[in-house]
Amino acid sequence: MSRKIHIYGNWKMNQLTDDIYRFFDEMEDDSLAELKCQGGIAPQFPHLSLVKEKAMPLGIKTGAQNCSHQTSGAFTGDTSPAVLKDLDLDFVILGHSERRTVFGESNQTINEKTLLALELGLDVVFCIGETLEEREANKTFDVLKAQLDEGLKGVAKEKHADIIIAYEPVWAIGTGKVATPDQAQEAHAYIRKHLAENHGFNKESLIIQYGGSVKPANAHGLLSLPDIDGALVGGASLKPGDFYELMKIGSELTP
Ligand code: PGA
Repeated sequence: MSRKIHIYGNWKMNQLTDDIYRFFDEMEDDSLAELKCQGGIAPQFPHLSLVKEKAMPLGIKTGAQNCSHQTSGAFTGDTSPAVLKDLDLDFVILGHSERRTVFGESNQTINEKTLLALELGLDVVFCIGETLEEREANKTFDVLKAQLDEGLKGVAKEKHADIIIAYEPVWAIGTGKVATPDQAQEAHAYIRKHLAENHGFNKESLIIQYGGSVKPANAHGLLSLPDIDGALVGGASLKPGDFYELMKIGSELTP
């Protein structure tokens, strides 16, 4: 496989300022310079600049966990993707299942955010995934197809390289229940084929991360699969030792 492994941490609504200093103090102890994979961290909004300052010298990208569907205006409590760009951030995570279920974001809303973030020059980590109910009803591929078709509608071909897909089965997020290698590989292969055949994505260069209870103990098995090019990691990314270990595994598997 010729694709670089991408290990991104989604810190969700965790970490106080002191925790962040401690995290990077521990990370700096280890030599990240020779690691070949691409790391990324998405903290809460108020910590973006601090994380960027700490992460950039280590070659780790910084991104937000969400953004507004509008550039500016009367949207109390929202954060514009223009501000994320203004802070010189690298990426934004969109369509995470917690945004979809807890905050009711539809494929259409996620599409609006995706188009705007891309237009403003941010990379997008575009999350999709089926619930347990949908998997048990054999609807996994239908759900993934709708999330891709509706969420990526209207994305220009020249923006394809700015998109990472994160396949995160909802039943595996934060549950300790990781998808089996067969389940993950099957979904990733479907996503790659669908995006290449129906959206004109480059099959060879498209990065597809797996997310859902990834930790050092199961990462090697998942990341060695042909269509898995990285991981979007929640819980384990909060621990500097685990995050470093995941980056090390990703680097060993990066050509
Ligand atoms: P988890 O979360 O690794 O804690 O399961 C993954 C995610 O939600 O991105």
